[in-house]
Parts: sequence; structure tokens; C-alpha cells
Amino acid sequence: MSIDIRVCPPERFAEMLKTAEVAFSEDVPDDLVERVRKVSEPERFVCALDGDRFVATGGVFSVGLSVPGGELPAGGVTWVTVLPSHRRRGLMSGMMRLMIDDCHRRDEPLAMLWAAEGAIYQRFGFGLATVCVNLDAEPKAVGFAREWPREGSCRLLPAGEGLDLVTPVYEVARAQRSGFLSRTPNWWAGILPTPEKDGKGGEVRRLAVYETERGPEAYAIYKTKAEWNPRGPACLLTVEEAIGCTPRGTREIWRYLLDVDLVRTLKMWRLPYDHPLIALAAEPRRLGMTVSDGLWLRIVDVTAALEGRTYGSSGSDRLTFDLRDDYCPWNAGRWVLEVSEGRGRVARTEEAADLALDANDLASMFLGGFTATALAAAGRVVELRPGALAVADGLFPTATKPWCPQEF
Ligand SMILES: CC(C)(COP(=O)(O)OP(=O)(O)OC[C@H]1O[C@@H](n2cnc3c(N)ncnc32)[C@H](O)[C@@H]1OP(=O)(O)O)[C@@H](O)C(=O)NCCC(=O)NCCS
Repeated sequence: MSIDIRVCPPERFAEMLKTAEVAFSEDVPDDLVERVRKVSEPERFVCALDGDRFVATGGVFSVGLSVPGGELPAGGVTWVTVLPSHRRRGLMSGMMRLMIDDCHRRDEPLAMLWAAEGAIYQRFGFGLATVCVNLDAEPKAVGFAREWPREGSCRLLPAGEGLDLVTPVYEVARAQRSGFLSRTPNWWAGILPTPEKDGKGGEVRRLAVYETERGPEAYAIYKTKAEWNPRGPACLLTVEEAIGCTPRGTREIWRYLLDVDLVRTLKMWRLPYDHPLIALAAEPRRLGMTVSDGLWLRIVDVTAALEGRTYGSSGSDRLTFDLRDDYCPWNAGRWVLEVSEGRGRVARTEEAADLALDANDLASMFLGGFTATALAAAGRVVELRPGALAVADGLFPTATKPWCPQEF
């Protein structure tokens, strides 16, 4: 029987998502299906049907991504699975084609995803856009390097409360860093503690908000898990998200998180490697940092993407580049980026190229995660005119590293 790769029939959305249980080896309970449904457009979910049976799943969320100087529409690719019985027959590739073409049709200049394994997606032009620092910390041993004064206070909010406090903090933080996703109240509902799931004690999600006389400046969403050993309490605290919109807010919410009683281990994923916590720490090594890949980005439309962000000043305000893009051939060819007062204009050119690079490399440079020089050192970007790497590094600078605090 032939396999049909297509948009998921909307009335079978729940059944399709539950198919992912097999490949992910994880439950997809009804409440998760409902949370996903609330942030989805059904026509953006795809599948493969073998006869009447789902054998592959995939989808795209419509979100905004903060980029240098603003925000761009981005398709968040998600729920990509293929049943083990049907793997390596091109089903994922077929769904990816539908999803990327859909982003292109909708004028989304960017697509992005979190990869179970990075090797899956590089063939489609995704480049590593953020690098994550993950923590497996001994919180009480970290300490602060200086005696910063304690100011303001933290309070715990009952499940179901706090949306009005966290939203402004997140929006200010999002304007300060590339890599943050836009969030509707329905997105927040899946991130904050909810009365149904997290209403009462024990091992539930909690929300702590840090406030000063100027209002909320930080929050943390975290869980604790009881653990005891012969030497006493050894609880685990897992931070799902900790965001500050001021230096004071970031410092104080971390002071709170590092100091919860009975906790011996603190875990967190997805921090940027220039996160203030690392500079605040007296003993950074006790943060137990490891590094991993983060958000993967795909430039779907090179003109809209490059014209949708701002630039730094460089020795030159002009850069020509030869872009190789076999998967999205409308991007391929020679381009010139001209920068004036921080904004870029992009056009086709016949001039000699300053740099040669692949779509993956442009994606890795786009949010500031990697410089052209760093990618050239890996043999990815090629400098065709001496000095061009320095020009690119100057045009694509970022004061801070991109940070995507949220997996999707
Ligand atoms: C990863 C997964 C979706 C791939 O689906 P698939 O239908 O087997 O993929 P395709 O047949 O379209 O593969 C296309 C190409 O990618 C390669 N590929 C697929 N999965 C890969 C992996 N995990 N690592 C490296 N290469 C991979 C294939 O070998 C193939 O290469 P080829 O064209 O040179 O032969 C599937 O194996 C799966 O469901 N895995 C478990 C869940 C998962 O990891 N999902 C991704 C979540 S981000």
C-alpha cells in the first residue's frame, strides 16, 4: 500500500500526536494534546498515513523570534517522528519538504527547531544558532563573588496566578536578547503552573516572582523533588525557566534558587554561555556546566531575513557573498548586503563575492551564535577577499549571545 504524506486531517489531530509516543518513548497524555492544540494551527501539522494508519508526524508552530533589533516570523518545527517500522524510507524528508515550503508560502523568513540529534537536520539547511550551557550544580557551594546587597523580595504564587507579573518581565528580557520566542496567553498556560496539575504540594511546578518598588523584575518556574541519603537531605531542584529583566532581578532570582532549603542538586538546561549567573558565581565550577547544541535555525528567505534585522558598523558597510542552498534554491546565488544606519538592503549581484558560505552557516551567524571568523576556522565559511571575515564579524555583532529559553 502506498504511503500518503500530507496535512493531518484536523479531526484526527489527537490521534496523530499520540502516534509520536512510539518514537519519543514518552506518553502523550490528553492534557498535553489540548495544550498543543491551543497553540497550533491544525493545517500546519503534517503526517504520513500508511493506509488509514498514522506512521509519521510533524508540525510547525507560528511564532515570532527575537532577532538583532526586532522580531521576525518564524516557523517552529516540532513533533517530528516516524514509526520504527517505517524509518529510513524518506517519510521525514517528505514531511520536511511540506513544512519548509509552507513556511515559505506564509512569508516566514525563518524556520527553527530543537533537534533530538543534530545530524538529522543539517541536510535541510539548519545551522546551529545557539549554544546551551546546562547546569548540574551544587547550589550551596556556588556563592556570589561579591557582597551584592539583598534588595526587594521573592514571593511564591498560587498555581493559576502570575501571568500579569511574568509577561512584562519576559517581554523586556526578550527585547534584550535574540532567540526568544513570542508567547500568547495559551503558550504561557503550558509553561506556568496550572491549578489542575500543579495545585497542591509535593513535586509540582512552582512560580516565584522577584519584585521591588518598581514592580516585578524576575521570575523562576521550577520543581523540587524530595531525596534523602544517610547524610541528610539531598533534594533536587529543577529550574524550568528563570528570567530577569534587570541585572538586579537576575541576581536576586538566582540568589533565591541557589538557596532553597534541603536542596543539594540544582539542574537547568538551555542557558546562554554569557549568562550573568556565571559571572555572579564565586565558584563557577560548582555550577557543573556542560555545553550542548541549542536552537537550530533555517533561513527560509534570505532577503526577508537579512532585511529584518539590524547590523553593526564595520570597516565596510557592504558585503557580497555566494550562498549555496540546494534545499531552498530560491536563496542560492550571489548577493550583496548593503548596510546604512544599521538597516540592511539585500540584492542580487554579479560582483565578485567576498565570502562563500552555505545556508547552514548563514543561519549560524544570523542571531550572533557564531561569527564568520569562527565558522571559517571550522572550514565552513570561505574568505574570498582578504579582510571580508572581519567585515562580516563587524556587521553581524551581538553584545550578548542569543538565548532561546524554551524548547518546543
Ligand atoms: C529522526 C527520524 C524522524 C527520521 O525519520 P526517517 O523517515 O527515517 O528519515 P528519512 O528516511 O527521511 O531520512 C532522510 C535522511 O536523513 C538521514 N537520517 C535520518 N535520521 C537520522 C539520524 N537520526 N541521524 C543521522 N541521519 C539521519 C537518513 O539516513 C537519510 O539519509 P540519506 O538520504 O542519505 O539516506 C526518525 O528516525 C525518528 O522518528 N526518530 C526518533 C524520534 C526523533 O528523533 N525525532 C526527531 C525529533 S527532533
